[in-house]
Amino acid sequence: MALSQQRQGKNQQNLFLENELTPRYAVANEVMQLFAPSNSLVSTEANMAVKTDALVDDFVNAIHTNSEIEFNALLETFVDSQVPINPANFDNYLEYLANNVVNHSIHTSSPRFIGHMTSALPCFVRPLAKLMTAMNQNVVKIETAKAFSPYERQALAMMHRLIYNFSNEFYREHVQNSQSTLGILVSGGTAANIIALWCARNKSLGAKNNFPGVEKAGLAAALDYYGYQGAVVIGSELMHYSFEKAADLLGIGTHGLIKIPTNINNQVDLSALRQAIADCQAKNLHIIAIAGVAGTTDSGNIDSLSDIADIAQAANVHFHVDAAWGGPLIFSEQHRQKLIGIERADSVTIDGHKQLYLPMGIGMVFTREPQLASSIEKNASYTMRKNSFDLGKRALEGSRPGMVLFLHAGLHLIGLKGYEFLIDAGIEKTQYMAARIATMPEFELLSQPDINLLLYRYIPESLRELAAKNELTEIDNHQINIFNERLQKTQRQVGRTFISRTTKTITCLEKETSVTALRAVIANPLTTQDDIDAVLNDQIQIALDLSTSDSLEANHTNYV
Ligand SMILES: Cc1ncc(COP(=O)(O)O)c(C=O)c1O
Repeated sequence: MALSQQRQGKNQQNLFLENELTPRYAVANEVMQLFAPSNSLVSTEANMAVKTDALVDDFVNAIHTNSEIEFNALLETFVDSQVPINPANFDNYLEYLANNVVNHSIHTSSPRFIGHMTSALPCFVRPLAKLMTAMNQNVVKIETAKAFSPYERQALAMMHRLIYNFSNEFYREHVQNSQSTLGILVSGGTAANIIALWCARNKSLGAKNNFPGVEKAGLAAALDYYGYQGAVVIGSELMHYSFEKAADLLGIGTHGLIKIPTNINNQVDLSALRQAIADCQAKNLHIIAIAGVAGTTDSGNIDSLSDIADIAQAANVHFHVDAAWGGPLIFSEQHRQKLIGIERADSVTIDGHKQLYLPMGIGMVFTREPQLASSIEKNASYTMRKNSFDLGKRALEGSRPGMVLFLHAGLHLIGLKGYEFLIDAGIEKTQYMAARIATMPEFELLSQPDINLLLYRYIPESLRELAAKNELTEIDNHQINIFNERLQKTQRQVGRTFISRTTKTITCLEKETSVTALRAVIANPLTTQDDIDAVLNDQIQIALDLSTSDSLEANHTNYV
């Protein structure tokens, strides 16, 4: 019987808790079988692979987005905290996995799952994932990643070149120079932003005369030595929350993150930014960095990067661009101009697992100046010795896998023109969705797409006339918010289609109001205009059902 057929309704949480102790020699035998050379285990490993592949095929080809199980019921499946005594049989474990985990996992590759960055992956990722885990390289040091270290540096240099476009001589000098760092591969945009600000802090409060620098003496001593009253990072109010993590870790506290209001296009207000800088200077606060956002998390809008570059340059402050979302627009001739000014950034974050269509766990930070990351360098006597080629010496993380395999493969197997096609197609479909929403009386468009993200909301029929005249009161908006939250939760639970939700500030009757917004992310190359129509029609259908029945609401509030 196919595994997919065996899944229905089985709860196998105690499958592995046998009472009988298997004799020690038998356990040793079974465990050593797991480590036997693959050529001596051809049939066992091939058998495992065939059965696992069947699960993969079922999963990635599903159209619905979610299983119907209630989240609280699912929690019950994972409450057991005892480690099984004896080694389990692989088939039993796979069956457990199919029933309890795979069966209830979100189908992020469904073309109708258009609410988060996680999406369908190119087919080369799956076989290469097997190669990567089989090789099990640790990219922290050369002794465990002899080829992977220069291979990673090459892939990062390719991305660096797309951003900064320096001369051939520059890249020849720095790509494989162990004293230079063009980029650092990390697990995601969060780590990338943290590293960028860490470098900015250490460089700007570095060693001087007999002061050893912030890295050794700490923030309080550094501010004291340099004569500052405190330190801040400045950026848009729409900065990703990873900046709060960074501010906390860097010792300036989240209050040290100065958030500047944005304009109607969700871009940082430049005069407010200039004023904030002047205020900090007047208060003798050290500005560690000014951050621009190239693709805000909610609606994908891009700050005016060249204006921010001018402002940062005039203030002599590190300029960081968080292009986790929008960075891949550098591949597109049509859309690259939206990023103008990024080439002047001291550091840039780009996520591979967003618009580069790579698996989870790939973020990157690039630095304009190849020596900038030396400000965070750490050494150890067992590895990462001074002047070594070890990538871990200038990194936040220690041990890490060879995820660069996917980036390097993507840059070759998709290539410049392939990425251009993917980026342009994603934006075109998002523009299609925006245009559709603008013509549908059921919806109100809340953002114009710069990239592949879009905000909108459902307006219940009784309030449509007021909404069209922009005469909604605070109470009306509150009602609409509640309705949109119910709509999104129900849609998520029913699982035919998926859109995420967030909040956005809009102006109604000349007052700023926070509204619940539906958030579309068109990140799946397989999503068609028909899928987009299907998602919108599904929402209209659910909204109708909700208007006529309150019972739908009660069950679906078990995760926020
Ligand atoms: C603009 C922006 N920066 C940074 C991040 C953090 O990225 P990650 O989730 O890869 O850590 C995100 C995440 O969505 C983001 O939208």
